[in-house]
Amino acid sequence: MNTQDRILQISLRPAVVSDLEKIIEMDAKVTGLAKKEYWEDRLNRFSERDGRHLIIAESSTPGDVLGFIVGEVRAWEFGSHPCGWIFAIGVSLDHRVQGIGEKLFDAMCDAFKADGANSVRTMIARHDQLNMSFFRSQGMMGGPFIELEKPLD
Ligand SMILES: CC(C)(COP(=O)(O)OP(=O)(O)OC[C@H]1O[C@@H](n2cnc3c(N)ncnc32)[C@H](O)[C@@H]1OP(=O)(O)O)[C@@H](O)C(=O)NCCC(=O)NCCS
Repeated sequence: MNTQDRILQISLRPAVVSDLEKIIEMDAKVTGLAKKEYWEDRLNRFSERDGRHLIIAESSTPGDVLGFIVGEVRAWEFGSHPCGWIFAIGVSLDHRVQGIGEKLFDAMCDAFKADGANSVRTMIARHDQLNMSFFRSQGMMGGPFIELEKPLD
């Protein structure tokens, strides 16, 4: 993948090791938590692996990361057919509502389709109106599974 968008002047491409610091920095700004080890692990496990994708949006300045999305195709867990899972998405606070999130989502869906998935799934917190608005705008709706959990003492 290496799509060029002349209007917004962004490129989408798989993340490489030199993007790591920018991704960690942006995720820390978006979520309020710096997760260095998590992102190092993600990059190691997701770069150039079948069915796993860490895609970034870059400005016309190489290395200037404006957004990222992470996901993988998973199959047969809990009886689920092959389905693309989006684990994380983030767009720079200074570049939001310019279509970057949508381009990242579309690129991930294309990658999932190429991997053989015919649906895409994610999970969001109930109160998270921003992510709910975004994913609903991309056509996502309540799915056939529900999450169950219990605190472990
Ligand atoms: C959600 C997010 C990725 C959207 O990125 P973006 O580039 O701003 O989104 P886009 O410009 O592609 O917007 C696509 C659609 O999403 C919806 N949307 C985006 N931002 C919105 C907002 N602030 N309020 C309401 N709807 C919004 C709109 O429907 C928009 O379409 P429109 O512009 O035609 O109305 C971005 O806001 C973000 O990074 N949020 C934090 C994500 C996060 O919490 N990550 C950590 C956990 S995974």
